[in-house]
Amino acid sequence: MSAPYVDLNVHHAPKGVSDRVAYGFTKALRFCADTFFAKRYGHRAIVLETVAAVPGMVGATINHLKCLRRMCDDKGWIRTLMDEAENERMHLMTFIEVAKPTVFERLVILSVQWVFYLAFFALYLISPRTAHRVVGYFEEEAVLSYTLYLKEIDEGRSPNGPAPEIAKRYWQLPDSATLRDVVLVVRADEAHHRDVNHGFADELAGQPVDEARFAPSPPHVEGIRLVA
Ligand SMILES: [Fe+2]
Ligand SMILES: [Fe+2]
Repeated sequence: MSAPYVDLNVHHAPKGVSDRVAYGFTKALRFCADTFFAKRYGHRAIVLETVAAVPGMVGATINHLKCLRRMCDDKGWIRTLMDEAENERMHLMTFIEVAKPTVFERLVILSVQWVFYLAFFALYLISPRTAHRVVGYFEEEAVLSYTLYLKEIDEGRSPNGPAPEIAKRYWQLPDSATLRDVVLVVRADEAHHRDVNHGFADELAGQPVDEARFAPSPPHVEGIRLVA
C-alpha cells in the first residue's frame, strides 16, 4: 500500500508571548517523555495517546458552551475537535494491541489525566489561541516520535508484526497490513491535527489561514464499534 504523504518539516516558528509559552511547555513535556520512555515507543504511544485525546474534547466542550451562550455559529470547529478526540482514542485502542501498559504506567495515566484535563481546560478558558498552539506543537512532536518509531521498525529493533484488527477496520487497511503501515497512517493523522490546530491558533490570532496547505486526514471510518 502507498504511504500517506506527510510533510515532516512543518514547524510554526514561535511569534510573541503566547507562542513562546506554548512552545516552552511542549519542549518541557517532551523532555519528560524522552526521559521516562526512552525508546519504548509502544508504551510511549499508549500513555501519550491518553493525553492526546483530551484537548479535542475540551475544545469541543468549551466552544459548544460558548456557541450556546452567544447563540452563534461554530464554523465547524466543534465537529472537527470531536473528530480529533475520537481519532486519538482510536490511536490508543490500536496501540493497546501492540503493547500493554505496566501498573506504574496506568497510575501515571490516571494522575496525568486529572492534572492535564484541568490544566488544559483552564488554559482554553484563558487563551484558546495558546491552547491550540500547544496542541499544534504537541502534534509536531508526535510526528517526530512516530518517525523515530518507524526508524526502529525499519532498522529491525522493533518487531513489525501484523496490524491490529481494529486498525485495519478503522483505516480500512488490507489484510496484509503490518504495524509499519499503521504507524504511517497514525503519523499522517498527527500531521493533520498539527496543521488544523496551528490553523485554529492563527485564526484566533487574526492571521491568514490556508487550509489547502493542511496535511490531509487519511481516510477512516467514523465511530467504529469495538465489539461487532
Ligand atoms: Fe495520536
Ligand atoms: Fe495527535
